[in-house]
Amino acid sequence: MCYNKSMKNLIRSTTQLAMHFVSLYLRDGGTAIDATCGNGNDTIALLRSGAKEIYAFDIQQAAIERTKDALIKEGLYSDQVHLIQDSHEYMGAYIKKKVQAVVFNLGYLPAASKEIATCGETTVKAVKAALRLLAVNGLICITMYSGHPGGEEEKQQVLELARNLDQQAYHVAYINMLNQRNHPPEILLISLKRGVEIEKD
Ligand SMILES: C[S@@+](CC[C@H](N)C(=O)[O-])C[C@H]1O[C@@H](n2cnc3c(N)ncnc32)[C@H](O)[C@@H]1O
Repeated sequence: MCYNKSMKNLIRSTTQLAMHFVSLYLRDGGTAIDATCGNGNDTIALLRSGAKEIYAFDIQQAAIERTKDALIKEGLYSDQVHLIQDSHEYMGAYIKKKVQAVVFNLGYLPAASKEIATCGETTVKAVKAALRLLAVNGLICITMYSGHPGGEEEKQQVLELARNLDQQAYHVAYINMLNQRNHPPEILLISLKRGVEIEKD
């Protein structure tokens, strides 16, 4: 998924751009988390980008099944893939090692009920949980959508958390497709410079 000449234009799509950044952090392998696995596209992209082990979360059984089916179809399902039907805020209960990359693709599952979407309160808890698991020089990549009910609030809550991260400890970048209409997705990137203690909730 790293940028290559076959890609027409890296900034053409938020999904492509987000996964490009993530792939740079997985060049040496490592463990990754897909915090919202949905249809499994990001899980597959993480494995193709170099992740050797992956934890994929979703609250919906349909999403876990779709992800499993997609992985099997691509020949990527193995004992290094952990599919977990639970809310991502509890990721710390399942993962006891540092991780190189964490991907959040917020919002609702395409072609399913729009009522089951990520929400600010739990997303903020999940990002804090991801910060506790992040390896030095690892990356959290969050794709945020503000066009659906609750999306703008969620985005503002996540941005508030990111804005207040200690600049001595974290690099934070925020990418907005400025000239696109109709609430284009935005990307938030957080990388850990050096070890810090994140307070428990
Ligand atoms: C935009 S979709 C993810 C798309 C997915 N990454 C893909 O590649 O197809 C958002 C997903 O977040 C899931 N979700 C909502 N709340 C969640 C929570 N608290 N914990 C984990 N997943 C959640 C939804 O069920 C939905 O499948």
